[in-house]
Amino acid sequence: MIFQTLMVLSGLAVQTSAVCSRATLQDAVASYLKAQAAGNPSLLVQAKNISYAENDVKTDITKGVLSQVVTIDFSRSILDTTECSTFTEISAATDKHPYVIDTRLILSSDGVASVQSVIADSGDWVFNATSHLAWAKKEKWDPIPEGKRDSRAIIRAAGDAYLDSWKDGKVKVPYGTPCARLEGGAYTGERNPTSNSCKMPEFPKPFAGANNRRYVIDEELGAVGILNDFPFIDATRPEGTPSTNFLRVEGGEIRYIHETTVCATRNCGR
Ligand SMILES: *[C@@H]1O[C@H](CO)[C@@H](O)[C@H](O)[C@H]1NC(C)=O
Ligand SMILES: *[C@@H]1O[C@H](CO)[C@@H](O)[C@H](O)[C@H]1NC(C)=O
Repeated sequence: MIFQTLMVLSGLAVQTSAVCSRATLQDAVASYLKAQAAGNPSLLVQAKNISYAENDVKTDITKGVLSQVVTIDFSRSILDTTECSTFTEISAATDKHPYVIDTRLILSSDGVASVQSVIADSGDWVFNATSHLAWAKKEKWDPIPEGKRDSRAIIRAAGDAYLDSWKDGKVKVPYGTPCARLEGGAYTGERNPTSNSCKMPEFPKPFAGANNRRYVIDEELGAVGILNDFPFIDATRPEGTPSTNFLRVEGGEIRYIHETTVCATRNCGR
């Protein structure tokens, strides 16, 4: 009984000490990017029992995309010091095999314990890495000045409202003006750079909801990355297909949204 209590207490202690510094998280991201650029997973600072998944499928880290050399033209990362995790978006447009890769890393005390990547390439939802690169580079996701930063709860609520509104059009989404969405390579802000072009209508019913949400939240950059399973878009994946939404929030309002969605059938059969 005492032993069990001690186990529970030490479990809590581990959770509490999971708070990470930005420097630690930045080092983990740097090692991830180095590993991906070199196609050498051993350059990633790995925890002993690392788990690695691509598009929701557990994969041998030495056999996946991380073991292929990928030219990284641009990347943007956010750091979650509360959850000890990171979210990185890679645009690999000039690679012989163009990709957009969104990756969540979860750290434990001895390194990266979990890598979850959503990996899009030709045939995935409106995929165009060239266009993705051009727009992603143009956007400003600078640090938000201290005193103007939103809380984790507000940033997360903005992301949740956006995803929830697909199922229930009555959900109020805090879109900003302007707001632009980069969906695959399609950019809503191209024609309407000063307006809110992010608004999404409710999807046709029945819509299961974008579930299995996994969040990375960075208050300093006002951003949230949400890995989720997106139903409806690919009829062959009614339970949802691997997808990410990566949002920048300023003053409680959504400024940018990036969506990367993997299709089981070419362009999700559309
Ligand atoms: C091993 O991985 C599991 C699941 O990711 C995690 O809960 C556990 O804390 C890890 N153990 C160590 C020693 O890192
Ligand atoms: C991808 O986007 C670029 C830049 O906008 C464009 O020039 C190119 O035609 C697009 N490719 C496809 C296959 O649509």
